[in-house]
Amino acid sequence: MSVYPVKTPDRSYNAVVERGILRRAGSFIPAKAAQVFVVTTSDVWDLHGASLAAGLGGKAFHRIIFPGGEERKRLSSVETMAEEMMRLGGDRSCLVIAFGGGIVNDLGGFLAAIFMRGVPVIQIPTTLLSQVDAAVGGKTGANLVSGKNLVGAFHQPLAVLTDPDVLMTLPEREYRAGLFEVIKHGIIRSEPLFGLMRDRKQDVLSRDPEAVEEMISESVRIKCEVVSADEKEAGLRRILNYGHTVGHAIEAETGYQRYLHGEAVALGMKAAAHLGRLTGRISGELAGELNAVVDSYGPLPPANGIQPEQLLRRLAKDKKAIQGAVHWVLPRGIGDVEVTSGVDEASVLRAIRAALA
Ligand code: GLY
Repeated sequence: MSVYPVKTPDRSYNAVVERGILRRAGSFIPAKAAQVFVVTTSDVWDLHGASLAAGLGGKAFHRIIFPGGEERKRLSSVETMAEEMMRLGGDRSCLVIAFGGGIVNDLGGFLAAIFMRGVPVIQIPTTLLSQVDAAVGGKTGANLVSGKNLVGAFHQPLAVLTDPDVLMTLPEREYRAGLFEVIKHGIIRSEPLFGLMRDRKQDVLSRDPEAVEEMISESVRIKCEVVSADEKEAGLRRILNYGHTVGHAIEAETGYQRYLHGEAVALGMKAAAHLGRLTGRISGELAGELNAVVDSYGPLPPANGIQPEQLLRRLAKDKKAIQGAVHWVLPRGIGDVEVTSGVDEASVLRAIRAALA
């Protein structure tokens, strides 16, 4: 078991990584919570609901089933769920448990952030991607037609409970997509984590319990540390966007259909490594090493038809762009990155071309 504290101006809480923690989830619910609403999908509930129900130890709860899908990550779904909570007698003393992957963590967290102007939420992520990223750090939200996650709120949870055992049922492609966010954490902040992903690929891919727990724990530790230093992404937290600048543009350019988020981030990380090389921050040899580890967890869907110039146009529209300046997170070494906005377009185009080749 590993416990990592998150300290923000409004709230201090723990992210706990523990095999089997679902079966003691009830111990994290404060006695004063009058009603518990578990926001989940039927898929997750069918696989892991019995463990969570047992873990709530007889505490009464209502299930709110979200039908799932990025296309339903919308304000209208939040409204439907809030109405259901009202029908079931929810009031200001209730608590939400967001039990699922990244979409459920974001949407359930947002529901909690605005229901009765804010009720507590416990995040229980069930995909690798959400365990190592989405569920920790208090970012919640929904999509607009104009783009992903364009409405939302920072709403830090009461706790984040991560059970590595639930990953045993995760489909292979989703599991691999989550691994790219783990590699990201290694590149931005942890040489040992990058080394684990480079040197123990077979253990990682075969979901060896000890390797899985180690990579999740190290990722959660890093995320908690970064969020504690910069909750609202005014500075340090931007390093978590490594690979996301180009990754988001690729997702949008392919209509969110071709790539899973982690896969698009993988291509984005390759572009960032090339850009690190082209701007003299890292050697060609190191860029090759970073990209070889990314490639070793492939294959990624082919990039045919994606125009680098089109991606460049989308970059400026990214919500992370500040007054039109695209912010890049570029490597300086393994475990060391730099946030910069002064990168010339010609290098960006070359880096994107190299990443998509
Ligand atoms: N996923 C990036 C962040 O939480 O800041």
